[in-house]
Amino acid sequence: MTPIAHHEFDAVATLMRDTIGPLGYYNEPARRAELAKYSAESLRALVAGDPHAVLVARDSDGPVGFCVSRFDDATIWLSWFGTAAHARGRGIGAALLAALAVTLPARHAHKIWCDSRTDNTASRSVLEQAGFRCIATLTNHWYEQDYLLWEWFPNGPTSPLTAPR
Ligand SMILES: CC(C)(COP(=O)(O)OP(=O)(O)OC[C@H]1O[C@@H](n2cnc3c(N)ncnc32)[C@H](O)[C@@H]1OP(=O)(O)O)[C@@H](O)C(=O)NCCC(=O)NCCS
Repeated sequence: MTPIAHHEFDAVATLMRDTIGPLGYYNEPARRAELAKYSAESLRALVAGDPHAVLVARDSDGPVGFCVSRFDDATIWLSWFGTAAHARGRGIGAALLAALAVTLPARHAHKIWCDSRTDNTASRSVLEQAGFRCIATLTNHWYEQDYLLWEWFPNGPTSPLTAPR
């Protein structure tokens, strides 16, 4: 699990499209909006601003997992993570989240947060096992669908940024 390499942008954009496109949790407008956000060019732009923004898991054939995140006022917003359909259930999702946690100090962030669709049980289970806590249910939210909001303090809730002075 390491940051995306310069030759991997097309392959990772394809993997994201192939992973997000068939997901049944999203209605058509939501799926269209998500797919439009992630191209080789947009991934390159994210990485230009933050070298940890796109982490990649690989097997001998190339990328099989991705984790896209962005700095958000001393937190990290986990935008997407996913594992190629043929590689699921082997710990790749869990390893991507662990690798994301390792990036926190270098990014001067103390927590990771994200959303998931309420009925995405695979995602829910991986997030809970990593240590994420569900903090809210947003009903009738993005594109009129229901979402869970999650937070995770991989290094504990206090840090030099948040400890009382
Ligand atoms: C969610 C996703 C990333 C999980 O990736 P993965 O590589 O299969 O996950 P892991 O093998 O690391 O699984 C870690 C744990 O999560 C749980 N888990 C994974 N898939 C699960 C499923 N389908 N149902 C229930 N639990 C599941 C397991 O408990 C597993 O731990 P265990 O192997 O010790 O039992 C993958 O299913 C995926 O890419 N889904 C489509 C994209 C997506 O929904 N992304 C998240 C958006 S919020």
